[in-house]
Amino acid sequence: MNAESRTRLNQMPEWTALAKHREELGDVQLRELFAAGPTRGSDYTLDVGDLHVDYSKHLVTDETLRLLRELAAATDVFGLRDAMFRGEKINATEDRAVLHTALRAPRGAVIEVDGENVVPGVHAVLDKMGAFADKVRSGEWTGHTGKRIKNVVNVGIGGSDLGPAMAYEVLRPFTDRSLTVRFVSNVDGADLHEAVRDLDPAETLFVIASKTFTTIETITNATSARDWLLTGLRAGQDAVAKHFVALSTNAEKVAEFGIDTANMFEFWDWVGGRYSYDSAIGLSLMIAIGPDAFREMLDGFHLVDEHFRTAPAESNVPLLLGLLGVWYGNFHDAQSHAVLPYSHYLSRFTAYLQQLDMESNGKSVGRDGKKVDWQTGPVVWGTPGTNGQHAYYQLIHQGTKLIPADFIGFAEPVADLLPGLVAQHDLLMANFFAQTQALAFGKTPEEVRAEGVPEALVPHKTFQGNHPTTTILAKTLTPSVLGQLVALYEHKVFVQGAIWNIDSFDQWGVELGKVLAKRIEPALTEGADVPGLDGSTTALVAKYRQLRGR
Ligand code: F6P
Repeated sequence: MNAESRTRLNQMPEWTALAKHREELGDVQLRELFAAGPTRGSDYTLDVGDLHVDYSKHLVTDETLRLLRELAAATDVFGLRDAMFRGEKINATEDRAVLHTALRAPRGAVIEVDGENVVPGVHAVLDKMGAFADKVRSGEWTGHTGKRIKNVVNVGIGGSDLGPAMAYEVLRPFTDRSLTVRFVSNVDGADLHEAVRDLDPAETLFVIASKTFTTIETITNATSARDWLLTGLRAGQDAVAKHFVALSTNAEKVAEFGIDTANMFEFWDWVGGRYSYDSAIGLSLMIAIGPDAFREMLDGFHLVDEHFRTAPAESNVPLLLGLLGVWYGNFHDAQSHAVLPYSHYLSRFTAYLQQLDMESNGKSVGRDGKKVDWQTGPVVWGTPGTNGQHAYYQLIHQGTKLIPADFIGFAEPVADLLPGLVAQHDLLMANFFAQTQALAFGKTPEEVRAEGVPEALVPHKTFQGNHPTTTILAKTLTPSVLGQLVALYEHKVFVQGAIWNIDSFDQWGVELGKVLAKRIEPALTEGADVPGLDGSTTALVAKYRQLRGR
């Protein structure tokens, strides 16, 4: 379906039907829905790979789901999906194919971009990464002085940091614990300082991750890292080869920086930054967990890719999650979406999803170039339970906002925890189940009164409930399960972008700030006159210079 000629989303009959249905449902209560459908708790579930997805605690009926699927059909979500999998240039504003799914396609698959099968190239890079990771892990790859590499510092930002940094935390139990792996992203020098201050340069490998190799934060940090290394080693430029590798699409810039392109692991312009951690961008992760576990993770991604590509609408989990987001964002005015993992290892998962979702779907102009007049991507937020329960859950339970939430939990702890700690897992998961129950069903004033609560306190102790949640439950958190989870969210984001008719694969919104920062920097350092600076910023810059004694 052509993005330009498509009927405006909110003029489609399927949209109007949903709006009418929403009105008819009014303030339908989850209590009523469960009373009307005693098997709802097991009926409203789907399985994909190792993930069991329970969507029974949503403000939906069979009719809602049918109407949402009709909207997906009318907006040709599956047509765009097929175009993506085929390697068509669906990222129109950048004239690029969107083929992160090719990064986890099995050897032997055929996926063409501009008439060329990209799969052999993907596996050639994976093999090269594997050989390099093995050399570092075994000690065969040594530093300039012949010392074994014990520290790996990934330098990158956005998609060149968040994915590998998140996955490293998730898969810590699978890592070689004799290696120190750190991630530096912020141009605030404190980030690099804290990452290297206790490291021996002779034992340190820097992995410079940048798709473009022009990102100012990364190049600045990489340059400072090189200075730190060469000063520490009292060595010349030739030491760089053993301590710096690059992950990039830009061989020219890598060479210009002084990294031998033999030590460059390439990827391609059809891999978006926020969709890239299963490409060469995952090298630091692969060094930490080993090539086998990395490939297991890729298999997990692929399993969900295949599900998304082939499962019918009724049982397609990414489609369902995308549609539920549309239901709340467009028909219930929900502004945000919480992702609440009950796993300490998933501590950076939601931060990773923030880029995936908000950089993809934080758009207000459609693929037809016209301003949208419907809501697009939500604010995505959240941290692991149970910590959040003692911080912001109060607002979800009793505040004035509707906040749909995903709860992600596991039946078994993954790690060989210290003796005694495994038993704590049941307590963690008791909280997990208790929260979605409390959010869905609340506590009525009658129930509160029955507990003998004084009348004045009854309204305060009442929980209105009716807060929708999805529960995602898996046996344990393996590399494959991580791949499955990430692919699930990638495709959910895709579904929503397709419905909203926005380009989920560009990110023009990050450009203006970058340009202005470059212009403002000379004003801070040299007091240069910056034409066009507004009154507020001019005064702030003057104050900054005064505080710096300039
Ligand atoms: O924030 C904008 C962005 O382009 C992201 O999409 C990307 O992940 C990040 O910057 C880093 O870019 P690069 O990998 O080219 O350094």
